[in-house]
Amino acid sequence: MSGKKRLLTGLQPSGTLHIGNYFGALKPFVDQYNEYDSVLMIADYHSLTSLKDPVALRKNIAEVVKDYVAAGVDPSQAIIFKQSDVMEHMELAWIFETLVPVAYLENAHAYKDKVAKGLEANAGLFNYPMLMAADILLYDTEVVPVGADQKQHVEYAREAAAKFNTAYGKTFIEPQEKILESVGVVPGTDGKKMSKSYGNTIPLFGSKDDITKAVMGIVTDSSGDRPENVYQIHKLFRSAVELAALYEERKGKYKDLKEALATDIELMVAPMRAKREAITDAEVKQILADGAAKARAIASKKMEDVRQKVGVTL
Ligand code: ADP
Ligand code: TRP
Repeated sequence: MSGKKRLLTGLQPSGTLHIGNYFGALKPFVDQYNEYDSVLMIADYHSLTSLKDPVALRKNIAEVVKDYVAAGVDPSQAIIFKQSDVMEHMELAWIFETLVPVAYLENAHAYKDKVAKGLEANAGLFNYPMLMAADILLYDTEVVPVGADQKQHVEYAREAAAKFNTAYGKTFIEPQEKILESVGVVPGTDGKKMSKSYGNTIPLFGSKDDITKAVMGIVTDSSGDRPENVYQIHKLFRSAVELAALYEERKGKYKDLKEALATDIELMVAPMRAKREAITDAEVKQILADGAAKARAIASKKMEDVRQKVGVTL
């Protein structure tokens, strides 16, 4: 151990990233992970609660690893691994499930929302928070950087830690979420929240043409002094002072302003895209193999203690 606090976050391998994901999740992780003993987990078993396509899942796992490395996570400075490589997650999740009442899990927003939307409520979805608690607690995690929607899940992890500690003696640290709110919500090309589900994204690792096309498609109206939907994205790339000059100089010329934004996005993305293209599938496998070995070493030690405490080790 480095003496630094442990930071761990997880993400479901659920598809192509957009610039909202970059500013909302990737960049904040990249900016702070060196201050901690950091772990980045790909929650592949969690994603099975909604994704039943092995070809897509396999592809998404490799993509996520490439995305993070291209965005600046150095695999020698953080443990990058996938959940399914460390069996202890499932084992500890089961133990937590025996400690929390059904009614408590029924209160989880993510579960309630999915059920309300008519999505299949499989038992995995129901137990989801206890697997997430295991992900976090196995590594003595203190800080969990997540989007606001995951706040309650981290509370569930705290509750699982407290329940276990009360039943069997102090074993787990109660983790704290670190809500990533600095950027707020990045708007999409239609001005609503940029989201994979709304078809309004600017792809992070798209080609120059894909990016330009998406930017040119940003919906503008001529009611104000400046095209607000363009500006709100542009301000992620340039200071207010720089933008004030640019938007004054090209006042009313929406096409020019969009072109300026596309150029600024391309300036940021081009080096990351080049880095991403250079990462081979063999390297991805190596990163995950190294990460799995490091994660297993920590998780298996923790589980030895847990098994002793619950009484299954003779
Ligand atoms: P999507 O809405 O595209 O499906 P996810 O729910 O998979 O995105 O989110 C992955 C991460 O990216 C989360 O941490 C989330 O908070 C962040 N994120 C997603 N969309 C945005 C956005 N428009 N602005 C800021 N952060 C976002
Ligand atoms: N539930 C998280 C999400 O959908 C992903 C996740 C799984 C996670 N395990 C985690 C996040 C552990 C933080 C810590 O975004």
